[in-house]
Amino acid sequence: MKQFISVKDVHDINALVAKALVYKKLPFSDKKLGADKRIGLLFLNPSLRTRLSTQVAAQNLGMEPIVFNIDKEGWALEFAEGAIMNGSTVEHIKDAAPVFGNYFDILCIRTFPSLLDKEADYSEKIISQFIQYAGIPVVSLESATLHPLQSLTDIITIQESMAVNDIFKNKKPKIVLTWAPHIKPIPQCVANSFSEWMGAWGEADFVITHPAGYELATDYTKGATITHNQEAALKDADFVYVKNWSSYEQYGKVLCSDAHWMMNNQKLALTNNAKLMHCLPVRRNVELSDEILDGPNSLVTKEASNRVWAAQAVLAEILKAINI
Ligand code: CP
Repeated sequence: MKQFISVKDVHDINALVAKALVYKKLPFSDKKLGADKRIGLLFLNPSLRTRLSTQVAAQNLGMEPIVFNIDKEGWALEFAEGAIMNGSTVEHIKDAAPVFGNYFDILCIRTFPSLLDKEADYSEKIISQFIQYAGIPVVSLESATLHPLQSLTDIITIQESMAVNDIFKNKKPKIVLTWAPHIKPIPQCVANSFSEWMGAWGEADFVITHPAGYELATDYTKGATITHNQEAALKDADFVYVKNWSSYEQYGKVLCSDAHWMMNNQKLALTNNAKLMHCLPVRRNVELSDEILDGPNSLVTKEASNRVWAAQAVLAEILKAINI
């Protein structure tokens, strides 16, 4: 693997999941793989799980991680080609990225969308310039449109849960991605990415439900059943993934704040005793009720802990490519 920006960088999803689950059992089995290698984790935006799980994963592989909160501690970066830099930006990405490329063996970047300029966000203008100018493998820690480490984790968590339930020996799981309310505009990344991975995985009946106006970009939702009727979508679901996103069509806008879209035990009763997922952080009693999050059907803590094994599997694949 040369980079990890989307599911398109993955040759075999099930093999990568299997590798992650081996690391979960034997975290230090490849401790020598990353010896004498350094990984840079650049954050242009906040993070709890991604920054910690990726560091743990790197250390499990024997790598030295260095975290740089570039938004707070670095110079203000310029990304425009031909910019006359007489304003607030101090350093061009063309100058900064090759420096990272010299300091590190792998570069990981978190960069959220503006939610103001759809064209710029969906062209992935920031992470693509790091890829262009760093000259080393780049891993997305969540970019403007996608969150692939989260989606790999989600499939790991689903497969782990399926493995201990005999009903999945004879049937595909029904997996529902449901929109939930939120108080502020949230990127479409997690929903785009989960939908894209579900399509590429192809081993589930995948349904997306959201209010009118929250249609995701169709590039990511191929093969999904899409409905505005949340109750119908939840019927017989085996897994329910709850997530807010802002409108793609009316870019970055919050069009609905209907509290009836919140997932709770009453809606859980419509499902096939579904397991509940959310990538965290979650707005309790806005997106999901306490009763669900604190109840026996919640997978959210397991999901967050699986972030380590997803990151470790991905970094190991990249290290193998570097070491060849
Ligand atoms: N799910 C996730 O990416 O969490 P953080 O934003 O805390 O990293």
